[in-house]
Amino acid sequence: MRIVVLVSGTGSNLQAVIDAVSSGALDLTIAAVGADRHGTYGVERSAAAGIAGFVVDFGSFDQRADWNEALTRRVASYAPDYVVSSGFMRIVGQGFLDAFPNRYLNTHPALLPSFPGAHGVRDALAYGVKVTGCTVMIADAGVDTGPILAQSVVEVLDDDTEETLHERIKLKERALLIETLRQLSREPR
Ligand code: GRF
Repeated sequence: MRIVVLVSGTGSNLQAVIDAVSSGALDLTIAAVGADRHGTYGVERSAAAGIAGFVVDFGSFDQRADWNEALTRRVASYAPDYVVSSGFMRIVGQGFLDAFPNRYLNTHPALLPSFPGAHGVRDALAYGVKVTGCTVMIADAGVDTGPILAQSVVEVLDDDTEETLHERIKLKERALLIETLRQLSREPR
């Protein structure tokens, strides 16, 4: 199984996948790591691991559709079985989804359908929930609306800040993503 991982930020979840592959815990090939902007630590991590990295810089395109098409072409050039959004903070267009039907995975740091969007941890904390968690799903054209593949629960502590809670969620999110990829790698395609 070949995957392309898309990142916008630090890529700590990506690092967990890289580590799981290099330790042999996960049997797949990370064909490339891509970002929507220059200078992400996520793409640096891929370089350090000897994995191809690329940037399709959102800011360099006047039209969103053109960015979307460039991203689709670039990702497709690596012939992935699955594309994984690992903290990729852009909604992709229908053309991208059509190129990878049911093959675009996303993770979200909340128990969907609660708290979708860019601030899932902050919103859960502000609401005052006692448990939250993370979700791995197939991404569709909506914001965190695709079919759910797996979820893990994380307890909210009285003294949690957005940062402390997100760090604990990410521990579960990494494990959940790796386990989901392991299951997918064992399924016939
Ligand atoms: C994850 O919690 C992801 O769900 C959210 O941002 C975080 C990514 O962190 N959208 P990192 O870039 O893997 O460190």
